[in-house]
Amino acid sequence: MPAEKKATLLIKNIGQLVTMAGPVPRLGKQMNDLGLIEGGGVAVAGEEIIAVGKSDDVQGHATLAEGCKVIDAAGAVVTPGLIDPHTHPVFASTREKEFEMRIQGKSYMEIAQAGGGIRSSVRDLRATPAEILLERSKKRLNRLLAHGVTTIEAKSGYGLSTESEIRTLEVIRTLNEGHAIDLVPTFLGAHEVPDEYRDKRKEYIDLLINEMIPAVARENLAEYSDVFCEKGVFDIEESRRIQQAAKDAGLGLRFHADELESTGGAELAASMKAATADHLVYVSDAGIKAMAESGTAAVLLPGTTFSLAGTKYAPARKMIEQGVIVALSTDCNPGSSCTESLPMILSLASLQMKLTAAEGISAVTVNAAVTVERSKMIGRLEVGMQADIVLWDMFDYRELPYHYGVNLVSKVVKKGKLVIDK
Ligand code: NIG
Ligand code: FE
Repeated sequence: MPAEKKATLLIKNIGQLVTMAGPVPRLGKQMNDLGLIEGGGVAVAGEEIIAVGKSDDVQGHATLAEGCKVIDAAGAVVTPGLIDPHTHPVFASTREKEFEMRIQGKSYMEIAQAGGGIRSSVRDLRATPAEILLERSKKRLNRLLAHGVTTIEAKSGYGLSTESEIRTLEVIRTLNEGHAIDLVPTFLGAHEVPDEYRDKRKEYIDLLINEMIPAVARENLAEYSDVFCEKGVFDIEESRRIQQAAKDAGLGLRFHADELESTGGAELAASMKAATADHLVYVSDAGIKAMAESGTAAVLLPGTTFSLAGTKYAPARKMIEQGVIVALSTDCNPGSSCTESLPMILSLASLQMKLTAAEGISAVTVNAAVTVERSKMIGRLEVGMQADIVLWDMFDYRELPYHYGVNLVSKVVKKGKLVIDK
């Protein structure tokens, strides 16, 4: 395999090189195909992968640039950088008090309706200066990166006023410019009805449609719009109005749908040709069918069921069997899933949703890339793709869901640079 460009990074002696070369997205049984190369090697020039194959072939053909960094993987596993397609990383403080209330028997919705939940995070964020928000969010990104995540979708949604939503999206923009992780911004002004609009929710929806969405689109602050479509938050008709305005403004659509009850959120997302519908614990059969037909991806968040001490997980097997694009994510947020560990989510997906290790890996690489429309650049290790690469302290990729609750990342390469080196 001739490599004309000179390699600035060479990774050799990879025991299992998970390239993910193959169909995009991975549907049904294809999710078990990792494009695996035993005894692999990868060469990188600058930010780009220039050779992938057997270690000897890559080494034999690559011309090394002066000062080329050579990493001997010594038989370890290498995968593409993981992609987390649903996070809420910009918030002021954690909500461990609610976690304790939940284990003592209060439900997520009861806490929310009593003024806690998202609304308490909104009060908190509004009172927190941007520098502090930035600093705290940066720590969360550091933890995500340390767990092998190189790209995230990042939502606003704890501001819920034009000013504080824009401030949040500006924090996301600043993080994207300054942090190794790439962030794909989503506007989530429809996360909740804030305190000052509790008695006039229609006015809040009008504000979203007439002021907030146009401002976000004008300033180019988001690629997607999301809505918490759920009983007690935004109903189907409200969600449709908000998302139609977002679509008209040129934003892609994502939905929080059927998380706590079945409301027809998946059907709505599919009918609007949304990029994703997320959560889907209570998705209906009709919703699954509609998503398979429209190509709307399911982003499943088993960390949320786990952290809400629930017992019901999204019907992942059914969705895979019916040809829905399935991705997995942390849902990193202060309320329902406070974690930056995507590998831990793979463990939950295996144990609770019966995904194989390979299906889980497909869900956080190639399929997750599809949900943020970046599958030509990330999610696979192929010539011409961005060099986002993770080396793991393991010799078999199946250790990823099996060896849980610890961090087995040994090195992370982002755009060709070694950003984590343990
Ligand atoms: O994805 N469901 C809505 N949004 C988040 C929770 C946000 C919060 O409680 O702060 C979720 O679960
Ligand atoms: Fe969420």
